[in-house]
Parts: sequence; structure tokens; C-alpha cells
Amino acid sequence: MVCFMPKKQYFCIMISSFGTQLEQWYESFGRDLPWRRTSDPYLIMLSEFILQQTQIVQGMSYYLRFAERFPTAESLAEASEEEVLRLWQGLGYYSRARHLHAAAKQIAEAGKFPRDYAFVRALPGIGDYTAAAIMSFAFGEAYAVLDGNVSRVLARHFGITEPIDSGQGKKLLRALADEMLDRQHPALYNQAIMDFGALQCKPTSPLCEVCLLAETCQALSTHQVDKLPIKAKRTTVRDRYFTYIYTRTEDGMTLLHRRGSGDIWQGLFEFPMIESANKLTSKQVDEFIHSSLVKVNVKIKTELLASDVLHQLTHQRLHADFYRLTLPNAIENEKEQWVEEKSLDRYALPRLLEKLLEKIK
Ligand code: ADE
Repeated sequence: MVCFMPKKQYFCIMISSFGTQLEQWYESFGRDLPWRRTSDPYLIMLSEFILQQTQIVQGMSYYLRFAERFPTAESLAEASEEEVLRLWQGLGYYSRARHLHAAAKQIAEAGKFPRDYAFVRALPGIGDYTAAAIMSFAFGEAYAVLDGNVSRVLARHFGITEPIDSGQGKKLLRALADEMLDRQHPALYNQAIMDFGALQCKPTSPLCEVCLLAETCQALSTHQVDKLPIKAKRTTVRDRYFTYIYTRTEDGMTLLHRRGSGDIWQGLFEFPMIESANKLTSKQVDEFIHSSLVKVNVKIKTELLASDVLHQLTHQRLHADFYRLTLPNAIENEKEQWVEEKSLDRYALPRLLEKLLEKIK
């Protein structure tokens, strides 16, 4: 047993009861979730990919749809990328979906999901957290998960004042997470500490007055619950300005463009778009339309449908304006393709565009 703090005696006693108390809490308050009723490593991996992207409530319907359409790694491996992206639509960050697809191909190639940490950790899109989740939930192997919820619980309970995003803080938390793991019941313990972080030891307004672990919580006894965990870095957010020209003909065709690599939304479809350093005036939009989209002399109609729509990504804040441009008929365009508007739902669009389309329906 390792002791991390000067109050050795006290701290070591806490170690022996911490996991048991979490597991007791989980027996009463843990959530019954579909991916917890299986030990199929592929389904557990699927749930973890989805839950990296979204909250439980929304993730549930995606998980059930994916599990029904692709019940095995082989079935997912055989699907086209387009179908996978379409099913993923709405979750955002499509490179995760591509990684999931690539991981399924490697598992299918292996013949059987290997009970091998090194194999799992090396799969595309899988980091320490997801590898530990799969190994413990599916195979009962003693790997401790360490995600945001777990870090918060540990930092508060053990009064870790080292910033959790510093090298030193990460090392300390990793060692503490490994030390606390219930090696007899790693799946139960991991689920318990994650749920405890999500439901009880919440980022804001944690339920300290009714907490089974209150007696041994360092943050509570030193009045630091709202200060811990400490983060050193502030995440910087970049503002970007997108003006979409939803170009359509009177007989129901619309122009789509497929995004390239090296930026957000790789491989997704969108309407012709201008990115600018600031919001564009409608005069600037007209100039763009005449210089790039509609060079020939035809009758056009432009309407502003939505303005200043905000869309938050992890490190970017998108400001979108949305114009509709109506043409009498399709005119040739080298960069984009004309598709039937009624078949738009066959194309994977960024969530922002789905939101804009819902707005104008
Ligand atoms: N978030 C990420 N993985 C999860 C899981 N297995 N259960 C609940 N929440 C999660």
C-alpha cells in the first residue's frame, strides 16, 4: 500500500474503505445502462466511442441504433464509411466515427476481440481511458479508468491541489487511480467511481450534504470543494465566421460541397460557404455570389434566413449566417455538385447545418 500524503496513517485507512464505499453507493444509486448489461468488448467499445461525444441520454439512442445495425465488429467493418457517418450524424467530431470504423476493421481482421491491453490501446481512437474501460468492463482486468469525472472525485477526496492538467498532477492522479482500484472487482469499481463523479460529486453543486464519503473527503473538511480540481490552463477558443449560401433551383436541386482534410468536418457535406475574419455584409455576400457562384447573367433571388447562429466546438466558436439563393435552374459549377434537395438526408451534414435547416423548415 502506498501513502501519498503526510498524514500517512489517516490516508492509508482511507485507501482501504474508499472503493468499498463507492461500490456501496453504486449499489443504491448507479445507473442501469444498456452497455452495462453486456460483456461483449465490441459493444462496450462502441458505447465508449459514443459516450466520448455526448451525454448519456442522447448517447443511448445512438448506441441502440448502432448496436442494432452493426451488432458485431465484422458487420461494422463491412459497412461503407458513408453509412457509418450517416448513423453518427448529429454526434459531431466525425473523425471519432472514422476511428471507430477503422478499429472495427482491425478487430474483424484479428478474428476475435483480443483480451490484450496492448492491442486494444493501439486501436485507432483509443486512449488510456477507453482501453482501461474496455479491459475492465469486458474482461474484468484490473485497469483503472481515469477521466474527468474520476479525476474530480480523486482530487476532491484526497485534496489534490496540484493542477490536474500539469505533468505532476497527471502523474499523481494516475498513481492514485491505480492505487485505489478494487483489483477484485475492477468493472464494478470503475463504473462506481465514474457514476459517483457524474451524479454525486458533480462539477457544480455536488451533493456533499448527503454523501457517503463525506467523512473522509479532504476537500470538504478544508472547504475546498468548489476550488478542486485545479486546472492550470485555460482553454483558448477561436472565433470563426461562416456564411452559407444555400443554393437551390426552383425545381428542387441544391448545391453541395464536400469538405476536405485538415480542418473540422472532414468529408462531410455542406452548402457553398465563405469563411471570413468578420461577419460579412449582404453586399459582400452578393459580390461573392456574382464572382464565384453565379457568373452568368440569370435572375437570382437572395434572402437572409438566419443570422449570428452560434455553434460551439471544443476549441472553436462558429458564427454562422445563412442565406438562400434561388436560381431558375442548375448552372454549371466546378467545385460543387448538384443534388436533389429531397435526398439531402442521404448526405452527412455537420450538426450546425442540420440545426439551420431545422430552423427554416
Ligand atoms: N461515460 C463514458 N463511459 C461511460 C460509461 N461506461 N458509463 C457511464 N458513463 C460513461
